[in-house]
Amino acid sequence: MSKLVVEGGVPLHGHVQVSGGKNSALALIVAAALAEGPCLLHNVPDEIDVHTIGEILRALGVKVEFRPDRNEAVIDGSTLNGFQAPYELVRRMRASFYVAGLLLARLGKAEVPLPGGCSLGSRPVDFHIKGFQALGAEVNIAHGLMQAEARRLTGTKIFINRSSVGATINLMLAASLAEGTTVLENAAKEPEVVDLAIFLNGMGAKIRGAGTNVIKIEGVPRLSGTEYTIIPDRIEAGTLMIAAAITGGDVWVEDVVPEHVRAAVLNLQEAGVKVEEEPTRLHVVAQGRPRAVDAETAPYPGFPTDLQQPFVALMSVAEGTSIVRETIFDRFRYVDELRRMGADIKVERDTAIVRGVERLTGAPVEATDLRAGAALLLAGLAASGTTEISGVEHIDRGYERLDEKLRCLGARIQRVVEPA
Ligand code: EPZ
Repeated sequence: MSKLVVEGGVPLHGHVQVSGGKNSALALIVAAALAEGPCLLHNVPDEIDVHTIGEILRALGVKVEFRPDRNEAVIDGSTLNGFQAPYELVRRMRASFYVAGLLLARLGKAEVPLPGGCSLGSRPVDFHIKGFQALGAEVNIAHGLMQAEARRLTGTKIFINRSSVGATINLMLAASLAEGTTVLENAAKEPEVVDLAIFLNGMGAKIRGAGTNVIKIEGVPRLSGTEYTIIPDRIEAGTLMIAAAITGGDVWVEDVVPEHVRAAVLNLQEAGVKVEEEPTRLHVVAQGRPRAVDAETAPYPGFPTDLQQPFVALMSVAEGTSIVRETIFDRFRYVDELRRMGADIKVERDTAIVRGVERLTGAPVEATDLRAGAALLLAGLAASGTTEISGVEHIDRGYERLDEKLRCLGARIQRVVEPA
């Protein structure tokens, strides 16, 4: 176990490089195993969740080689032979459920533990399961397991009840090798869905419409290996932009797709932060204390739920009161920890009322999930005094060496390993 010890009050300055997208990498690593030959992925972030999905694939017979020094991964699905995903690994991460789509597509059989709830509230997979059944799979839920079987999946039209990144991705994986054409209606439009479609088409899939809410997948008999570079992590980019804003800094955030972070840029500009855009990077310059801005999370291209917590940390030191509404998950638990640093925030059902204070004060706090950990780290950067953040493994699940990157921008952060 380790913790981060942060001395606040230092404006961040300099250039920081965004890593490859965690949520894209998780989908593409599973998708790569659909091929009957090796795939080489570039810009793979060296993060805990990425390694977990690799371990799960290895347990199913897939050859997976990570090269963290080069942010590369080689995945060879030709030896895929197991249909039972191990509970011990699947329970760690909800995206593990993507192997259900892979196994049904490749083997016609899948036994995958249902993902549990997490600090974001209950996170069902009913849309995924309904989609598999629509594709012709017999699905049985018992003992915390989803058992699914289909001689061969058959393309069909599927309406996904609400915008769901995971269900869209899982059904794209399953449908890519099905008999006939599948149409996903009300599909998610996130950049990670588009990245997956481009990657799968490079493997020989026939997918059209990704990025819109109707995706057409014409099943093909097999997929072959290819080489691909994963898009940058738009949530890390937004987190780093907010870090610059909350510390009164001046930071170049490198390797960004500007339209992937459009909503976050607009919110920051409305809060009085200067954001200059170039084709592959953003220059973020704080202009004194931020102004309070209302925000509401929404599916892409709206303001992403994964930036809600870092943004509330920024608003907790803004001038005025902001109303932040969370429409995707139940994820305000971190507010109790921000309050311990002097934040003045009231949470009423899905809404946080954030009354900005001049200054937060450092305190020992606990990260309960990935983005909550990031929010507490950003709050610590801005607070006066010392903040000790435990639960750092949450941050390491989805950010590649975030503390090192912030230290290179001038932040005073120590990673202290605590005796187990
Ligand atoms: C993905 O989660 C991301 N995770 C999340 O990022 C992100 O916050 C979320 O999409 C945004 O929508 C990965 O990509 C690995 P959803 P996912 O299906 O797919 C409900 C992070 O920090 N729903 O889009 O699980 C669900 O409860 C993580 O990187 C059902 O009801 O999210 C939620 O309210 C956190 N039934 C809404 O839909 C289902 O079958 C959107 O969830 C599926 C989802």
